[in-house]
Amino acid sequence: MKSNQSDQSVSSGLKRRDFVKVSASAGMGVLLSRGALVHGSAAVDRKKRFVIVGVGSRSRMYQNAVFRDYADSCEIVGFCDVNPGRLEYAQKRAFDATGKKPSLYAAEDFDRMIAEAKPDTVIVTTVDGLHHKYIVRAMELGCDVITEKPLTTNAEKCRQIIDAQKETGRKCTVTFNYRYSPPRTQVKDLLMKGEIGDILSVDFHWMLNTHHGADYFRRWHSHKEFSGGLMVHKATHHFDLVNWWLSAIPVSVFATGKREFYTPQMAKRLGLNGYHERCHTCPEKAKCAFELDLAGRSSLKALYLDNEKYDGYYRDRCVFRPDIDIEDTMNVLATYDNSATLCYSLNAFNAWEGYNIAFNGTKGRLEHQIVEKIYVSGTDTVQGGIEEGGVTTRIIPLRGAAREVDIWTGEGGHGGGDKVLLDDLFLPEKRNDKYLRAADQRSGAYSILTGVAANHSIATGRQIRVSDLVQNIGYPDYPKMPTRNYPLEMPAKI
Ligand SMILES: NC(=O)c1ccc[n+]([C@@H]2O[C@H](COP(=O)([O-])OP(=O)(O)OC[C@H]3O[C@@H](n4cnc5c(N)ncnc54)[C@H](O)[C@@H]3O)[C@@H](O)[C@H]2O)c1
Repeated sequence: MKSNQSDQSVSSGLKRRDFVKVSASAGMGVLLSRGALVHGSAAVDRKKRFVIVGVGSRSRMYQNAVFRDYADSCEIVGFCDVNPGRLEYAQKRAFDATGKKPSLYAAEDFDRMIAEAKPDTVIVTTVDGLHHKYIVRAMELGCDVITEKPLTTNAEKCRQIIDAQKETGRKCTVTFNYRYSPPRTQVKDLLMKGEIGDILSVDFHWMLNTHHGADYFRRWHSHKEFSGGLMVHKATHHFDLVNWWLSAIPVSVFATGKREFYTPQMAKRLGLNGYHERCHTCPEKAKCAFELDLAGRSSLKALYLDNEKYDGYYRDRCVFRPDIDIEDTMNVLATYDNSATLCYSLNAFNAWEGYNIAFNGTKGRLEHQIVEKIYVSGTDTVQGGIEEGGVTTRIIPLRGAAREVDIWTGEGGHGGGDKVLLDDLFLPEKRNDKYLRAADQRSGAYSILTGVAANHSIATGRQIRVSDLVQNIGYPDYPKMPTRNYPLEMPAKI
């Protein structure tokens, strides 16, 4: 199903009769873009219509944005989820914020939602391992898609998305909020300017602390079937950053992984009698520092505890359970199509949260560190919030003195990245972006395939070629970078 301009205006829900009606009343209305009718310079009427699939914690960022900051041009017209309690909660939040009640649909009524609510765009914020089902079906039914990371969790599902996007021609946006955070955009800026020349290798180490890190071991994330493990669920952010920072795609991956901290044995070493089912009913919660108190935190209670009777989704399962099948300790060696190499690690039980990265270039080295604040999903803490003074970026020229860079700053989630991302998603006029931060299914695919390959490598002990996993993805849109063949100045002789 290929789209052309007239198809788009119809499938976007803007029917010819609406266009005629508004045109007539506006006198000389002109159809400028999907959903935007202008008379003179003032945008009028038709708002862009969104539905959300998966109304858990993360969906609230999109809900709040559309309810408040982008309400002039956008509206949410439907919610879809397996949990009727969370659906009603989302509807109540919508009503409190806007006075309107988006329609509610059970997961099996997704097609009916598209037919009745007529969205332009489906926002996918459900469990990672289910993204593909909704992305593919939404595009088949003529909608564009905005999906949370990771695009999906394995190669087969990734192939389905790539094929469906090619067949339908619909737009599939993957929301890599980290790219948009000012200090990380600044790193891209410095690399694009060639401050350290062309990059031959990267050392990248990401630390998750025992608040945020532990949270991945409580619920669906703790099973590879649903999350792809941390190599996909979490590291998709990091591997996307590397791809985008380098403007390159991964070629081969070797990885090791193990789980040694979030285990039944560790519960005993920490003085507990052993693991238990969940925190809410745990006989040892008073002495366990990993307790998540659902009843004591109003937003967690409203979102999860009050609704678990519908689907048995326990948000607070014991982090020391034996049935967990994801790693907490991972190391990766990867090569890229520009011949750069990456040495990466991810540990989920660290003393602090954030990362160190060093780019080793032909003119010098760029070292960059971010220390993040304590965060637990579904609480009032800010995800990816940066500690005061927690960003450093330093350039060390070959044989020259190191210089600290003045840091670009931003406010809010993910170091200010969420806000810039939301503008990109929801403002009617798209801004030119020399950093090409808006990502589609091609970047989404390459961001997960390093982790998918790492999972294969962990399972087989072999190096995995990314091109053996999914073919014909297409090359992502990345900005131009310094090449390997321009003349370099001889460094100072000392
Ligand atoms: N970009 C970021 O920084 C960031 C941060 C947090 C989460 N996320 C992503 O957002 C997504 C949601 O994460 P979350 O923390 O909100 O999880 P969550 O568990 O709070 O929400 C998931 C929702 O999906 C619903 N669901 C389960 N099965 C379903 C089905 N078959 N059909 C429809 N809905 C179904 C659940 O009932 C729940 O409401 C994930 O893909 C996650 O990786 C991204």
